[in-house]
Amino acid sequence: MKTAIDGILEKYGDRGRDALIGLLQEIQEAEGYLSEEAIVKTGSILNIPTSKIYGVATFYNQFRFEPKGKYHIQVCRGTACHVLGSLTVLQELEKVLKTKAGETTRDGIFSIEVVACIGACGLAPVININGTFHANVTPESIDEIIETYRNKN
Ligand code: FES
Repeated sequence: MKTAIDGILEKYGDRGRDALIGLLQEIQEAEGYLSEEAIVKTGSILNIPTSKIYGVATFYNQFRFEPKGKYHIQVCRGTACHVLGSLTVLQELEKVLKTKAGETTRDGIFSIEVVACIGACGLAPVININGTFHANVTPESIDEIIETYRNKN
């Protein structure tokens, strides 16, 4: 059976190595992450070793290699959020969830993604959880936010 990935690969098949980033972006958009299967298929279509594809994909921190969690947390690291402390917010999230940016908690409930400005600078520092914006977040407020989502399960 033809998968969404197969359809994307067919489109890019004759475009060569320069197509790699665009192709990976499209696969991630369709599947939510880059699975091992997708990377292997990409390598065989573009004739690039999988190790090289992993190397390129990990260089750009926009790519993820695990499915998103039930609650996907985007941490804005744009300038306004940065100036108001988004790095300490990110570090606290990683500590509380015992998970790094780009990864998903072992129970599959939370995942963290670092993003550029999400257009809500007046709310900085801001995090977005499944489309809900949390404004003026501080490391101290992270526990309470995470507990609220945990209790929804
Ligand atoms: S910099 Fe974070 S929303 Fe703009």
